[in-house]
Amino acid sequence: MKILGIETAVDETAAAVVEDGFKVCSSVVSSQTAIHQKFGGVVPELAARTHLAKIIPTLDQALKRAGVSLEKIDVIAVSTTPGFLISLLVGIEVAKTLGYVFQKPIVALNDLESHAFANWLESPGLFQKIQDYLAWPMLYLIVSGGTTALFKADYFGHFNLLGETKDDACGEAFDKVAKMLGLPYPGGPIISKMANYGRADAFKFPRPLIRVKGCDFSFSGLKTAVFYEIQKLQREKNNLDDQTISDISASFQEAAIESVVFKTVQAAKDYKVKSIAIGGGVAANSRLRELLLQQSLVPVFFPKFVYCTDNAAMLAGCAYYYAQRKIFTHWSKVEPFVYKNGKGRICRL
Ligand code: KG4
Repeated sequence: MKILGIETAVDETAAAVVEDGFKVCSSVVSSQTAIHQKFGGVVPELAARTHLAKIIPTLDQALKRAGVSLEKIDVIAVSTTPGFLISLLVGIEVAKTLGYVFQKPIVALNDLESHAFANWLESPGLFQKIQDYLAWPMLYLIVSGGTTALFKADYFGHFNLLGETKDDACGEAFDKVAKMLGLPYPGGPIISKMANYGRADAFKFPRPLIRVKGCDFSFSGLKTAVFYEIQKLQREKNNLDDQTISDISASFQEAAIESVVFKTVQAAKDYKVKSIAIGGGVAANSRLRELLLQQSLVPVFFPKFVYCTDNAAMLAGCAYYYAQRKIFTHWSKVEPFVYKNGKGRICRL
């Protein structure tokens, strides 16, 4: 079964063709990093306009690389939450139009579930284990620029939120600390690179909510502590030298990653899961990988680096489970999930 995935939730315009849930025939990601870099974060209006310009060429390329025409596609998968409403709408309208014109069934997906399913793309052994129900119940840790959350998943389509960040997302904190240090956006990759040259114990930054029971996270207090430390150092030294920037990067990274790992390992014990699946841009962080593998008592899955940040292959892979059971959404009913009072519909039960 060949599934075409379409992703425009935030600032990546992406399309992919995946066969039978794990064979990636093509995955094209058109990143907008260069456009948003000068603002230090994603500007929704600009993101949506860029999606409009890029979505058709991106789709075209994904189909060409996979060597299939739209007629030969069995199912269309599209992300419908979470993300920027005006960004999501671009992908959704394209999926609806293709679904209507080519009479293809559509799977409307939650990006967060798809991030977890990125783990078995191109990994036939793991894919089989997942199909055979050997790794469930599973804990999903989704850590990205917009989300830091833990879910308990009984199987595809059945996942419940255990806790999430009360303020900034983990990736967002990396981006903001990078900005404070005069480093470019996105901050995660550059902070973790600088951290390799610094001492993680050079500065004592807080590990927020680590003593509080439950699965919630918080990063704004940590971010503020880094901000005050930078201000103090700037008063003393004027400009921060490279070694100080590396030390702050390493100390901040250690604090952020330790709190994520602590909460995740605790949740895995409390909820007696058989495995942990990580997803989202911060899943690319090598310290997170190292610490979690050291501390977890159950197997931990990390996606290949290319499938950590937003991409369409993860959607096309995840949609396979729905398509196998004919769980489709009619094109006229595919719409972004509505957010009320800052809370979204994040569980599909
Ligand atoms: O999943 P993603 O594309 O996020 C959303 O669109 O929400 O991931 C992007 C986020 C950014 O905040 C970026 O700084 C962070 O992932 N990130 C990292 C690393 N690589 C990307 N954070 C920490 N360490 C990394 N190596």
